[in-house]
Amino acid sequence: MISLELKNIFPFLDEKDIEDLLPGTSESLNLLHSGTGKGNDYLGWLNLPEKTDKELLDVIAELAEEFQNEIELLVVIGIGGSYLGTRAIENALNHSFSHLLPNNKPQLIFAGQNLSQDYLYQLIEVLEKKTYGIVVISKSGTTTEPALAFRILKQHLERKIGKKASRKKILAITDSSKGALRKLADEENYRSFIIPGNVGGRFSVLTPVGLVPLGITGIDIHELIRGAAEMAEMSGLYISLNKNLPALYAAARNALYKKGKLIELLVNYEPGLHYFSEWWKQLFGESEGKENKGIFPASVDFTTDLHSMGQYLQEGKRNIFETVISVKESRHSLMVPSDDKDLDGLNYISSKSVGEVNKMAELGTLLAHVEGGVPNIRLSVDKLDAYHLGQLVYFFEKACAISGYILGVNPFDQPGVEAYKRKMFALLEKPGFEKESEIIKKHIRN
Ligand code: PA5
Repeated sequence: MISLELKNIFPFLDEKDIEDLLPGTSESLNLLHSGTGKGNDYLGWLNLPEKTDKELLDVIAELAEEFQNEIELLVVIGIGGSYLGTRAIENALNHSFSHLLPNNKPQLIFAGQNLSQDYLYQLIEVLEKKTYGIVVISKSGTTTEPALAFRILKQHLERKIGKKASRKKILAITDSSKGALRKLADEENYRSFIIPGNVGGRFSVLTPVGLVPLGITGIDIHELIRGAAEMAEMSGLYISLNKNLPALYAAARNALYKKGKLIELLVNYEPGLHYFSEWWKQLFGESEGKENKGIFPASVDFTTDLHSMGQYLQEGKRNIFETVISVKESRHSLMVPSDDKDLDGLNYISSKSVGEVNKMAELGTLLAHVEGGVPNIRLSVDKLDAYHLGQLVYFFEKACAISGYILGVNPFDQPGVEAYKRKMFALLEKPGFEKESEIIKKHIRN
């Protein structure tokens, strides 16, 4: 289960500040469920968990079995919403050192999420020595980073095992009819999956975008969906606002924003949540950062970053609030041993587990940060398993949509992302960009 604790924002807000936002929150929830708000072409994610096709899950289970026997690595090619959700869940659920352990399931590695020559070169060095398959994911089917990585890795795989055999090792996930990847997949006869047209990239982890690679690497995708479906039910239109956790969270963060808290830090105390924060940053940054508005989403991994960012958080500019994902139960238990000589002075915690020490660090940090002027929202989750990850994913998706509507923006578009692409295409002299290319070159010469 997930619970939301807001008491540590009230030193900085009055109850009334939240109450004032409740009518807007309720209206936003209505807009979302009635499909009458901005961006309503992209609401497919809202009822996705309960509608997940059993046939899709069966096909993924078959693929998982097939790939388990044949490949060591599954290269997942994609960027943004076609990458971060899978990485977030894989990172949270798989063994922290799985790459160093013998595995009977294909391990996920990622490509197409950058344009680094060295990264791709080194990846190929590894792939030379391993058996591997590829899942290439792009909704538009035209994004440069994954398209480029796929061209290179496809040719590598074809050289290594032959064109015919490589067809069986490549899966494509893309639109049902549009885009270069759809054309390529159809022509090459790759097995492919469809990203529903009404689900935007950053809301797509519970579609084949996430389910296919996660299922192949052995993650319990049934449980992931079950968790998400339960959160969908618990945050439906007819749930009263004081029990509707995503709506309450959306109201609280907007109330803080109105008080000048312009930066939200997502905090974790589990390294496995690092990429969950990356996924969350995209979800909120791309959904809300428009029309010169929006809370800036940032993240820290504690206690690691207390030794780098701790000073700023305690005493720097007071325009930050924190949302802490607090995991109640660890998956394992490890006691701090006692030591006869106690030269390191740690015997005072020798009756405790490492988890208890981590919890005290978490509580101590919360108390210190609130005292230092940083409002804290706490989102507690029983444990990190597929079911709770599903709950968290849906919780944040729903909260993000409601929050975007409270802010008055369209949470489902990302017009600003095109700006860098146009400049890059002009610089690379892509056909169709000749005019911009001239202007940009003149600008650089001067
Ligand atoms: O959320 C989004 O829409 C974006 O982050 C996209 O997912 C990202 O740009 C990748 O796009 P595509 O899947 O079309 O390659």
